[in-house]
Amino acid sequence: MVDVLLGLQWGDEGKGKIVDYLASDYDIIARFQGGPNAGHTLYVDGEKIVLHTIPSGVFHKHCLNLIGNGVVIDPVTLQKEILIIEKVQPDLKQRLYVSTRAHLILPTHRALDAASEASKGLEKIGSTLKGIGPTYMDKTGRNGLRVGDINTKDFHIKYNKLRDKHIEILRQYNTQVNWQEWEAPFFEAIEALRQLQLVNGEYWLDGHLKNNKKVLAEGAQGSMLDIDFGTYPFVTSSNTISAGVCNGLGVSPHSIKEVYGITKAYCTRVGSGPFPTELNNDVGEALRKAGNEFGATTGRPRRCGWIDLVALRYAIMLSGVTKLIITKADVLDNFSPVMAATSYKIEGKETKELPFDICNTEIEPMYNSFPGWGEPISTCNTYAETSQNFKDYCSFVSDYLATPISLISNGTGRDQLLIIS
Ligand code: GDP
Ligand code: IMO
Ligand code: MG
Repeated sequence: MVDVLLGLQWGDEGKGKIVDYLASDYDIIARFQGGPNAGHTLYVDGEKIVLHTIPSGVFHKHCLNLIGNGVVIDPVTLQKEILIIEKVQPDLKQRLYVSTRAHLILPTHRALDAASEASKGLEKIGSTLKGIGPTYMDKTGRNGLRVGDINTKDFHIKYNKLRDKHIEILRQYNTQVNWQEWEAPFFEAIEALRQLQLVNGEYWLDGHLKNNKKVLAEGAQGSMLDIDFGTYPFVTSSNTISAGVCNGLGVSPHSIKEVYGITKAYCTRVGSGPFPTELNNDVGEALRKAGNEFGATTGRPRRCGWIDLVALRYAIMLSGVTKLIITKADVLDNFSPVMAATSYKIEGKETKELPFDICNTEIEPMYNSFPGWGEPISTCNTYAETSQNFKDYCSFVSDYLATPISLISNGTGRDQLLIIS
């Protein structure tokens, strides 16, 4: 049986913390897409850890962790991450598995990402510059290198061919790069990757599923960054919705049971692109401060705004979310009123649907207003203890989205969670 956990907004919903909490109920945590553009924050024994490629189950001794075929791997950053985590989890490598079909991010993919962004000027995507777009382009363009390739005898030849192709494209961008400098660390990291447990993830998972093991598929980014359904072209290059689980892990749709969808109690976005409920004012600034909204991967300030129920309803529809998780509810402790967008006004007409051309459409969000919580929820230990105002807000959100809330996160700490069902 496979359950799924994914972000419903533009990423950074708190997936890392929640996976770390849910992991005690699962045998395997499997990342199904994205790459080191992700930054999943966990607090373990009070210490902050940010995971980029490694699944967020690594702090549970009983959990095996798979980096699935849908993930793109930068061997250099993966190796750095392993060295950091090994200090606290010396047995990490015994519990970490990597799919042979996952694609490799080459140093020149990163250079291409930077050159492409620079060439776009003001229209840049705001990419994390980790080489994600160019690597997925080589995957779908059928030029990519995969983890399994590193154990073939002509790996160097394949690498050189792809690198030369990249240098040629970089020349068209008028960009010269010192690729020679990047190769020694890259091949050192490839050597380290060779030492890991490389498996055909789809058979590996199938074997475990046949033995009734429980798998949690961990998403990266968020539904509004999905390559097909997000705010294109201001998106990432993978399918972040639950459809990405089947092709990112090689499991059948029949095996999927619960789909946990995470949203913040408000909304953030990092990078460019449309954000209908964005607050370019003091309230937005106050949200950034209260929520400490700075990117876990790039440190960039995140754009902040009110929760957007129109976009959330869309995300829930796309992924078949069965359980809703609300994070960072404590961040709104000192805000009153609290607003939630319930429809969009486009050319004078009200709608609850996202328009096709969201980037070029003037959207006026229509809001429902709620009084603030009245008392802080950050100090509550159970949902029952929270104020009636907070419960009313939660009931409204849950009813609007026709999805039950299972968990509410009310602080960064591992145990700061209110369990509803
Ligand atoms: P992810 O990418 O979805 O895993 O989320 P990030 O780690 O990028 O960003 C979430 C940030 O919010 C991290 O700094 C978390 O420590 C923090 N966080 C998670 N849940 C809560 C919460 O309930 N309250 C507060 N105040 N912070 C939270
Ligand atoms: P987690 O898993 C927030 C954003 C970037 C940019 C766009 C494309 O931590 O939630 P890319 O590097 O993928 O080509 O960038 O997507 N982005 C994220 N925003 N959280 C993430 O991951 C993100 N991963 C990518 O800021 O706007
Ligand atoms: Mg993040």
